[in-house]
Amino acid sequence: MSHHSSSFDWDNLSFVFPSDDLAENQRWSTWDSIERLCRGPEPRPDWLVTSAAAIDTELGVLKTGKEADVFLIQRAVPGDPGQYSVLAAKRYRTSNHRMFRRDADYTEGRRIRNTRDTRALARKSVHGRAVEAGLWAHAEWDALVRLTAAGVPVPYPVQIDGGEILMEYIRDGDDAAPRLHQTRPTRPQLAALFEQLVQAMRTMASLGLAHGDLSPYNTLVAGSDDPAPRLVIIDVPQTVDLAANPHAHEFLHRDCVAMAGWFTTKGHPVDADELFADVIAHVW
Ligand SMILES: Nc1ncnc2c1ncn2[C@@H]1O[C@H](COP(=O)(O)OP(=O)(O)OP(=O)(O)O)[C@@H](O)[C@H]1O
Ligand SMILES: [Mg+2]
Repeated sequence: MSHHSSSFDWDNLSFVFPSDDLAENQRWSTWDSIERLCRGPEPRPDWLVTSAAAIDTELGVLKTGKEADVFLIQRAVPGDPGQYSVLAAKRYRTSNHRMFRRDADYTEGRRIRNTRDTRALARKSVHGRAVEAGLWAHAEWDALVRLTAAGVPVPYPVQIDGGEILMEYIRDGDDAAPRLHQTRPTRPQLAALFEQLVQAMRTMASLGLAHGDLSPYNTLVAGSDDPAPRLVIIDVPQTVDLAANPHAHEFLHRDCVAMAGWFTTKGHPVDADELFADVIAHVW
């Protein structure tokens, strides 16, 4: 994998989550482990194009967000119609002067073990911002891989390269999947979507995780005309560790309030505290 676009030294950076064991802490220390861990988990979906002959073409911006922009990328092998896919590329910003909204509360319990990077983060230098963008990209990558492996409905993570994550492009027919808040589901659709949401939140809790920024804006709906549309959870870089982060339960409760509120307004009454109790009961 090329790292030409990377503006800081990955080999010199190590960050760990408190629940990681030593082997995981050391995964960035060799080029081989970076290669392996920068690619999506097995089993790989059949639509994934892995050919060395593939060409990536940027099709345009899908959406500009608060801390990242999402682009559409076509990955295809010229002359081979069977090897064609469209991916979403989430690129964390590195060069503006905006502070990340996600700050100390989320990163508490997460250590950065490199004094140069720690100082750069504190200074908000160009290097510091690149480190910060890379940390958030890697936090999101890490969460997407773990959640995919556990069967939580998130976009399949294809690869990470510096501050850019390539992932499954979630669509609704020919268009990008709408965010939940833009949809007008029928009652049966609401029930189906809520069931998927609860399952996803329970599974996350069983991993000791909470999304931390869950809302109808970070939830996509594929097949919005189907009787049972598919709910996909996105935007997971701030996923919090329920055991290590002292604010995690507040974040989880806020997630529950946001989702229960939306479903209730749309005609599927959900009590936020009951949802919270249900989810928290799945933390082992
Ligand atoms: N895999 C995907 N497939 C389809 N659309 C996506 C995908 N990922 C992101 N999007 C679209 O891009 C938007 C921004 O993505 P995301 O929420 O991950 O980034 P963000 O920078 O945190 O944005 P925001 O500040 O709006 O929350 C999403 O609301 C969604 O509409
Ligand atoms: Mg978002």
